[in-house]
Formats: sequence, C-alpha cells, structure tokens
Amino acid sequence: MVEIKEVKEIPKHKEELRVGFHTHVRGLGLDEHGKALKVADGLVGQEEAREALGVVAQMVKEGKMAGKGVLIVGPPGTGKTALAIGLAKELGEDTPFVAVGGSEIMGSPRKSELMMQAMRRAIGVRLKEKRTVYEGVVRDIKYRVARHPFNPYVKVPREAIITLETTDDRMTLTVDEDIAIQLRQLGVRKGDVIAIDAETGRVYKLGRAREEKEEGGIRLVRELKVPSGPVKKEKEVVHTMTLHDLDTYLAAQQAPISLLAGLGPESVTDEVRKQVDKMVSEWIKEGRAELVPGVLFIDDAHLLDLEAFSYLSRAMEREFAPIIVLATNRGKAKIRGTDELAPHGMPLDMLDRLLIVRTRPYTEEEIEEILKIRAAEEGVKLSKGALRKLAELGAERSLRYAINLLQPAYTVAKMRGREEVEAEDVEEATKRFVDVKESVRYVEQFKEMFL
Ligand SMILES: Nc1ncnc2c1ncn2[C@@H]1O[C@H](COP(=O)(O)OP(=O)(O)O)[C@@H](O)[C@H]1O
Ligand SMILES: [Mg+2]
Repeated sequence: MVEIKEVKEIPKHKEELRVGFHTHVRGLGLDEHGKALKVADGLVGQEEAREALGVVAQMVKEGKMAGKGVLIVGPPGTGKTALAIGLAKELGEDTPFVAVGGSEIMGSPRKSELMMQAMRRAIGVRLKEKRTVYEGVVRDIKYRVARHPFNPYVKVPREAIITLETTDDRMTLTVDEDIAIQLRQLGVRKGDVIAIDAETGRVYKLGRAREEKEEGGIRLVRELKVPSGPVKKEKEVVHTMTLHDLDTYLAAQQAPISLLAGLGPESVTDEVRKQVDKMVSEWIKEGRAELVPGVLFIDDAHLLDLEAFSYLSRAMEREFAPIIVLATNRGKAKIRGTDELAPHGMPLDMLDRLLIVRTRPYTEEEIEEILKIRAAEEGVKLSKGALRKLAELGAERSLRYAINLLQPAYTVAKMRGREEVEAEDVEEATKRFVDVKESVRYVEQFKEMFL
C-alpha cells in the first residue's frame, strides 16, 4: 500500500506570522554522518550548532531526550529561531513546531494554561486511515477569484479548476472555495503531485513530479514518480493532528448545544485532556496511531519566572512531552521575581536539564548567502550590486534589517520600471526605512527636550 504523507499543514495564522521569516529552512542540512554542509536545507554556516542539533535529533529518535531540553544561546539575528525550526523539520515534515515568547507567557493572566496549550500544540498524533482520494500530477490549475469580503486589497479564490493526471488516467475537477483556498495556501502549481480527500476536501501536497532546479542552487524537494492507476482511488492516508486539536474537538463534542456558539479554548478542561490522553494511548496500543513529539520553542527564556521554570521541568517529565528548546541572548541575569543572579537568568535545576548550543555572528559572505536564499524564497531578483549592498548592510547594521529591506527595495525597483533590484534601489530603501538602532537613537535625542 502506498502512503500519503502530509507535507505541509495548513498554516495557522499566528504560527504563520512567526514562521514566515523562516520558510526557507527545510532541515539542518547535514550529511549522513551528521556533518553540516556549508549551504543546505536553506541553512548557511553555523556548523557547530547545526551539528549539535543533529545529535539532539538522533537522541530524540532514540528516546534519550526524556527529561531534558535544549538551550540555544547567541546574539540577536544569529539564527536561534531558524535552527529550532530546522530541528523540527529534521525530525520529520509533519513534526509540529510551536513558538512562544517569554514575555508572552509572563504577560498572560493564565500562564500555566498558556504553557499547557503550547505544549499540547507541540505534540502530534499521526493517524493512519484508508480514504478515497483524487491523486495525480497537477497539469493545469485555474482559480476563479473574488474580492475579500472585508479587505478590498485581498483577493480570495472562489473555486478552482484543476486537472490531475496519472500514467493511466486524467481527470479535471472543479473544486469549491474551501479546497481552492488550501491549494492557494499550499502554493500548489503545475508539476506538483497532490491528493485531495474525496470526502473531507483536505489537500495533501506530496512533492514534485521531478527534480526542479532553481536559481541560486538546487532546492531540495521530494521527488516523486508520476502516480499510476486511476486518479480516484483508495489510499492509506497519514494524517497528523496535535493533542490540542483533539482537545478542542472533544470539548466541542461534549459541550451542550446551547454553548457551542460561544465555545472558546477555555472549554478544554483538565478532564477533557485526560480523556484525550487515554484515547491516544489506546490508539497507539492498537497500532492505529503514533506519537510525534514536536518542538516547543521558548524565545527570550530569561524572562520566565521560577513558577514558569518549575512548570516546564515538570512538563519535561511527562509521558507525552514535546522537545523543549529555550533561547536567550543574556549571560548573567536576575531570575525574574528574585534578586538572584544566575546564568541566563535560569534556576540551576533547569540548567542541569539543558544541553547548551551556541550560535555565533555571521561573516559578510554568510550574510550574502542567507540573503540570496531569502530573496529566492520571496521571489525577489537581485543584481550582483544589490546583493553586495544588502550584505554590507547586514554586516554593518543587522541581518534582520537587510532581510526586511528585500521587499521595499523590490517595490522601489518596480516603481522605477525594473524587475531586478539594483544597488541604487537598496540605497533608496535605506533612506526611507531606518534600522532599529537608528530609530532608537532618533527618539532618544528628544528625551531631554521634553523633560
Ligand atoms: N544560518 C542561517 N541560514 C539561513 N538563514 C538564517 C540563518 N540564520 C538566520 N537566518 C535567517 O535570518 C533571520 C534572522 O534569524 P533568527 O533565527 O530570527 O535569529 P535569532 O532568533 O537568533 O534572533 C531569519 O529570517 C532567519 O531565518
Ligand atoms: Mg529569534
């Protein structure tokens, strides 16, 4: 039996915003001996950290990370978030990745609830089911679009007409709005191999029908043979949900009808979670499901207080636990809510559980390489001069600033009637948009005037 693997989840809005800067990251870019290739899987340099995380991935697979976590330490813009995503991708395409900030946790009136939910969104359950699907290579795809009901600048697909082909069959389907939106979000285009669940309309992007070469190197994609047999067929489908998905699903099922309309996440009680855990344990015993521990990434972890750290420690001990990756750019700092100076602002019993990984600042060449990848990802064409200029800015100011200038520079170029960004367009963009250091300096100078 052939297996359908879900390559990309339909992005959840918040997660999409966070992960948006890192869509080029596809893994850790290691060879079969765990050595980092200079440029691979969308990652550049940072070999020491990538190799360390490769070891972590191996330990996770062998069940040796139980009770432990990872701490990534390094200055801003050195790829801490990017590497945590790389670790998740390395563990599997359907491995959940959830990011929360230390300040977001501390600012929440229900800290432990927020952490619990983040934890459960970071644990996947892989279910195998037989489904009827339409599967084939996309030979043609057309959208009928309409204006977004609220936002006039956004167009939304109303329906799509899609032609799927196998080695033996060809079929043209007209699909509804729901499916059309998924096709759009997944970026489905000609040459992709996809499957659409005949009943639920869920779209699975399986890979490309051949290897594609793109500018700036070969992009790694799952290469597939053109499927055979009829377009419409029965298949074993692998579907990954998170514990949190199951929690909300069960909570909704159990709620009295009168409450359904106003049902929020607060309807997920400890009782519901217990039932979900029990249900999932049974599925696993029966061989119908397997657990997919994902990565829970907590940025600016030095902001957490003792209560939050002890909650995390307990969570690491649980039977169902994600891989917890903390990140910080602080050295010695006070543990939040105490007067105690501690390494990275963290209590010792937490530090004892952590494998520490360093990230280092990039060279200008590395920055150039990262910008090249990012520009290709965002569909921005750069001239040699523009790339040079951006790399210089990245080194002088910050990598983030340089990345953030890609779109404005592209817009400037287009306003000047060009498709390729030149150095002068970058120059123009820097005049209009300043970096954070500059914007801070700017308002600071007025401080005294208004005192
Ligand atoms: N080694 C790398 N290879 C490719 N892209 C990278 C690398 N390091 C950072 N980036 C990209 O540069 C930007 C800034 O990195 P980020 O992960 O946010 O840094 P940090 O979390 O340390 O502040 C992001 O868009 C990120 O994806
Ligand atoms: Mg970050």
